[in-house]
Amino acid sequence: LKVLSAASELYPLVKTGGLADVTGALPGALSGLEIDVRSLVPGYPSVISALEGGETALSIPDLFGGPARVLAATAGALDLFVLDAPHLYDRPGNPYTQPDGTDWPDNAFRFAALAKTAALIAEGAIPAFQPDILHVHDWQAALAPAYLRYGGKGGAATVVTVHNLAFQGQFPAELLGPLGFPPEAFSIGGVEHYGMIGFLKAALRLSDRITTVSPSYAQEIQRTETGMGFDGLLRERAARLSGILNGIDTGVWNPSADPRIAAKYSAETFDARAKNKTTLQEIFGLDAEPGALVVGVVSRLSWQKGLDILAEALPVLLGEGMQLALLGAGDADLEARFRVAAEANPGRVGVRIGYDEAVAHRIQAGSDALAVPSRFEPCGLTQLCALRYGAVPLVARVGGLADTIIDSNEMALAAGVATGIMFHPGTRESLELALSKAAALFRDRDTWRRLQLNGLATDVSWRAPAKRYALLYRELVAERSTASG
Ligand code: ADP
Ligand code: GLC
Repeated sequence: LKVLSAASELYPLVKTGGLADVTGALPGALSGLEIDVRSLVPGYPSVISALEGGETALSIPDLFGGPARVLAATAGALDLFVLDAPHLYDRPGNPYTQPDGTDWPDNAFRFAALAKTAALIAEGAIPAFQPDILHVHDWQAALAPAYLRYGGKGGAATVVTVHNLAFQGQFPAELLGPLGFPPEAFSIGGVEHYGMIGFLKAALRLSDRITTVSPSYAQEIQRTETGMGFDGLLRERAARLSGILNGIDTGVWNPSADPRIAAKYSAETFDARAKNKTTLQEIFGLDAEPGALVVGVVSRLSWQKGLDILAEALPVLLGEGMQLALLGAGDADLEARFRVAAEANPGRVGVRIGYDEAVAHRIQAGSDALAVPSRFEPCGLTQLCALRYGAVPLVARVGGLADTIIDSNEMALAAGVATGIMFHPGTRESLELALSKAAALFRDRDTWRRLQLNGLATDVSWRAPAKRYALLYRELVAERSTASG
């Protein structure tokens, strides 16, 4: 079975968040299930420079203002179709924003080009790879089912995965013609969304299947309060919607073979982990206290992640004798707030502003707990990394966080199955209570160790999720052949 995956990010070639981790790891997990995935990705400079070989599989004389070609290439274990369109992608830095941090003004065309090309391949434009399934991720690729519907020849069945409903890809209605759609596409059954062109809306309306990255988030997005304007549509399409949890790449995230950490360890050699805590305290300028509970954070700094709530709870965290090691980048006011907190609390609060994969690994290996106080979280990957590395996740009970962590309530503790600490609602008060609870559990060394080892024993790999995607693809193909036969 052949699948074309289309997305704007792909680890390790281009990443701003978990989307890249997923699109980078899922193809490998599916290959063991006899599913052949090719990933279509824009030819950003970082992608082009990583290619091994590459030949032109398709030429497109004019793709929104310039010539483009699709290169068939590999990079490491990834089988790629790279959309080489210099007029759209040969630009420095972040895939979405200009050096000053604002969106590229032509983003509608930059990502419509990705979707348009995905649709062409889904229709059979590259005879050597005729996909059975076109799997698009997030708004950047989400116009593809609309291109197939309006003016396309039809072809592969379509699946859209929503990684984050907050990113919707809304553009002015005037772009309808320039994007290549006929007037009738601008309807509630097509690409229209609250008077604009909605890229994500198009896929939610027109794809054969919708998935999102956890069962809880699949429910949350059908409710008015958390559906971000799509709840009605998603309720209507509920029979086509499902939640499949993410995994993590357990080769990239493996404490027993991780070259980025000070001391490798496993469940059997868990005491060796202590060295990583010492190193973490050093690199974050924290007091060398083995007995202080180090709370780690690895996150984008945005409203979604709830780190302003953690900043408010800082007096309680410090009052409990804990330390904070935070790595993050994003909103300028949050960055400033944590910088100030670090300056005000030398030896107790350490902050790194920026994106740094090596430091992310060191935080997972060295902190005692990893805080993820998100307001909403479609899945979340850092809590999965934390489980694998023995940093006890301290998380808000939302979305994928609720689905992946077993809270240390009385019953779970008595049964010895807890893996983390959960708080709800997402308020300062309930986070403060969770921090105090963590401090108490940490004082009981055996209990804490049990939490850590339960984390290490949790299967956070792609094995089970990949089987679910494979089943979904196979069901869809079977359904298609029944319908057409
Ligand atoms: P989201 O995609 O919403 O940002 P996820 O938890 O799904 O959240 O994925 C975040 C990914 O990005 C993880 O792989 C995490 O390790 C990584 N990450 C986030 N912030 C940073 C950072 N500042 N430096 C390095 N890695 C980061
Ligand atoms: C999004 C979500 C995150 C999820 C990731 C990968 O960025 O915010 O929760 O883990 O996509 O699916």
